[in-house]
Amino acid sequence: MAVMSNFVVFEGGDGSGTTTQLSILRRRWATDPPLWATAEPTNGPIGRLIRQVLRKADHICPQTMAHLFAADRAEHLFAARGIVERCRQGTVVVCDRYVPSSLAYQGIECSTELIERLNADFPLPELLVFFDIEPDCALKRIKGRPVQELYEEAAIQEKVCNRYRELLPVYRGLGSTVEVIDAHGSQDEIAEALWAVMQKLPIMGKVRNYETLDL
Ligand code: TYD
Repeated sequence: MAVMSNFVVFEGGDGSGTTTQLSILRRRWATDPPLWATAEPTNGPIGRLIRQVLRKADHICPQTMAHLFAADRAEHLFAARGIVERCRQGTVVVCDRYVPSSLAYQGIECSTELIERLNADFPLPELLVFFDIEPDCALKRIKGRPVQELYEEAAIQEKVCNRYRELLPVYRGLGSTVEVIDAHGSQDEIAEALWAVMQKLPIMGKVRNYETLDL
């Protein structure tokens, strides 16, 4: 597994605000370099099947779920106009959830070995942003939603949170830059912290240099 330039992943428990922050970032982002905001599970055929299970409309066993997330991810990465192609072309791809979600969530009921094997051929993010929030606080934020999804329970979120905290140093050791953002603050405070982190991407330095040369 190699680190892929321009690939950014947002991670956190349910209710940690990754989706909200990605939409704020997209609105604020200038055109150069281009940004592609995307998410897993995807809106493709496998992602739609996963969402049915998350809504509890269907049930499948945890090991099959791990396979489905990995299959959805393979399509997301390698299809035409997918993550790999765009990153190589110089687009900053920000993906709301990726392999760490499989390790944190499916890892509760499946072996780490299975999840690592299913995801072994997938690139590592250049930057992994973890939205750190106490599970109690995160669950309060999403309590009002009409459907309570599969993993949105206190006991599961506690385990997810602990697993993430163990995973972050592992990703650092593998060569990804890992940034932890305190996700208890206001939307604006979190957006500012995220903005500062995004400016540290190597491609942002290159764009600035290019602009300087152009003047
Ligand atoms: P989430 O990202 O919160 O999306 P939404 O805001 O649209 O509900 O929900 C996706 C759920 O899928 C979340 O509970 C985490 C889970 N998930 C996994 O369990 N494994 C994975 O590999 C991925 C990508 C997500």
